[in-house]
Amino acid sequence: MSLTQPRGNGDSTTVRPVTVQSLLEMKRAGRPITAITAYDFPTARLVDQAGIDLVLVGDSVGMAVLGYDTTLPVTMEEMLHHTRAVVRGIRHAFPVADMPFGSYQVSSEEAIRNATRFLKEAGAHAVKLEGGSLRAPLVKRMTDAEIPVVAHIGLTPQSVHRMSGYQVQGRSGEAIDGLCADAIALEAAGAVAIVLEGVPREVAAEITRRAGVPTIGIGAGPDCDGQILVFHDLFNLTFSPPAKFVRRYADGAAFFGEALERYRDDVIARSFPSDKESYHLPKGVLEKLALTEPRADAEPREAVEPGANRRSQMDLERFAEIYSELERV
Ligand code: KIV
Repeated sequence: MSLTQPRGNGDSTTVRPVTVQSLLEMKRAGRPITAITAYDFPTARLVDQAGIDLVLVGDSVGMAVLGYDTTLPVTMEEMLHHTRAVVRGIRHAFPVADMPFGSYQVSSEEAIRNATRFLKEAGAHAVKLEGGSLRAPLVKRMTDAEIPVVAHIGLTPQSVHRMSGYQVQGRSGEAIDGLCADAIALEAAGAVAIVLEGVPREVAAEITRRAGVPTIGIGAGPDCDGQILVFHDLFNLTFSPPAKFVRRYADGAAFFGEALERYRDDVIARSFPSDKESYHLPKGVLEKLALTEPRADAEPREAVEPGANRRSQMDLERFAEIYSELERV
């Protein structure tokens, strides 16, 4: 076994996976770290193929995919389920799983047990948890247990009720000092990276300058070591107005919506599926059953109002006859 084991991607090519060490090297070399959330296999595959460095299975899955109002209801089982799907789609990126609300606050034993499940059962390479200096002892215990931890400070969505809403953090001298102290304590405890969310650009720049580990910003300005966005924000798939820091790179809602309307219209017009998109009986069977082969260029049947295309009782009886004949062939 070689010391570096590139993961195969199912074909003949191999890719070099991103690691804690390579993320650190990117910071030191001043190379921006690209990160995004993903929640399922196809989006993880797309993100990975695009060469993104870090994929976070965020608890934002609760709002982006599961339709909850906040991230608070997300469970361990939901996070594990989505993490497994994402990890199956990744060859290159560093997969991080978010610890859901309640999974690390009760006791450090329970937190470590839960974090372990993300690495052992779902294939994540690190976990992320929210909170500042208060979490440093837990980060240390997890690090000692061989679980890499990404910290998350600033606007921490799991604290939505304590913060009285989603508010930009670190705007007063005292709050800025608090954030800097948080970053220092978390790094000292072993955090491998720090997500900075919803903090003024100047504060994020200062923390990034002082931190020895990479900072990854979301709503924290361009001076962080890396940037992360929620996948559904990037593609206009949230059904709500975007936050100030979101840049929409494509209109997924329009793209999918338009395709779905065309599909619906084709079904109603009976132009989908076409003869070419249908399976056919072999000639001999056709003759035996005395069925007529539909002409490939046959006019589509008359379009019907949606809901009116129910099969008649006679059709169904005829089908039953044909199928019982076929079973005997
Ligand atoms: O859950 C999430 O998507 C996150 C990112 C916003 C960093 O925590």
